[in-house]
Amino acid sequence: MARLAEKVAIITGGASGLGAATAQRFVEEGCRVMIADLNAETAASVSKKLGDNCSWCCVDHRDRNSAATMIESTISRWGRVDILYNNAGVPFAGSIETVTDEVLDRVFGNNLLGPYRMTQAALPALKESAQRNSDGAVILFTGSLQALKGRPNFTPYTASKHGIIGLVKGLALELAPHNIRVNAICPAATDTPMLKHFLPGMSKDINVAKKRFRESIPLGRLPEPTDTANAAVFLASPEAGMITGIALPVDGGATAY
Ligand SMILES: NC(=O)c1ccc[n+]([C@@H]2O[C@H](COP(=O)([O-])OP(=O)(O)OC[C@H]3O[C@@H](n4cnc5c(N)ncnc54)[C@H](O)[C@@H]3O)[C@@H](O)[C@H]2O)c1
Repeated sequence: MARLAEKVAIITGGASGLGAATAQRFVEEGCRVMIADLNAETAASVSKKLGDNCSWCCVDHRDRNSAATMIESTISRWGRVDILYNNAGVPFAGSIETVTDEVLDRVFGNNLLGPYRMTQAALPALKESAQRNSDGAVILFTGSLQALKGRPNFTPYTASKHGIIGLVKGLALELAPHNIRVNAICPAATDTPMLKHFLPGMSKDINVAKKRFRESIPLGRLPEPTDTANAAVFLASPEAGMITGIALPVDGGATAY
């Protein structure tokens, strides 16, 4: 039996990188997936590739109206929402001495306030889903290794991702009585279009930077997008029915140091 059979999921940032890999794995596991992404062109193309059990809508997850439209589109297409995966985010690297208000608004708006607003918008539908089936409903977030550890010259990104862990812990407790589980996945640097924004912190030479990232990981390789996608399948599935309030590293042992 497919692990997400009959489920309906929304994945923000599902048009690229970790979100696209997760959309593919969710569809493979029998889920119907709404890709909610700012980039309509890539969202349409990924959705087409994944077939009839995938759809897409153009969403800015920072915007309440956009979030409401996304919930309406999902319900009108598939009748309900069982899983919300708040995955979209933006990178930033730079010293506190040069960070502007515009950067702070962009990073916190995308990485913390956006997921918060999306969760508020999806909550009525998730509660309804959890009432209807004993598996309950699920909220996932993509944190980061930077949600668990510090790193110089990444403070807005690090603080926004640490905020996700606060959100997960608080919401896990607040929503447990409604049978809604809330968890975060915390990947180490992964080869997606976002990676290039993190590399300069390691070295200006891309190959040297990737080698340094690899060397910081006990298992000796960078995670693949499917490593995060597989963790998301597990946490979204009934197999993880007793797991809520956690931040699961997908980091090849990096947090064990
Ligand atoms: N790649 C990494 O090294 C890495 C490591 C740890 C955590 N993460 C986190 O994983 C998540 C996904 O990153 P990725 O590497 O797949 O990046 P990516 O750049 O490949 O994909 C991000 C997607 O989010 C979409 N997006 C951006 N802003 C949006 C908005 N306001 N509304 C809706 N969609 C929006 C983009 O259009 C894009 O499709 C992010 O939250 C990121 O912080 C990435």
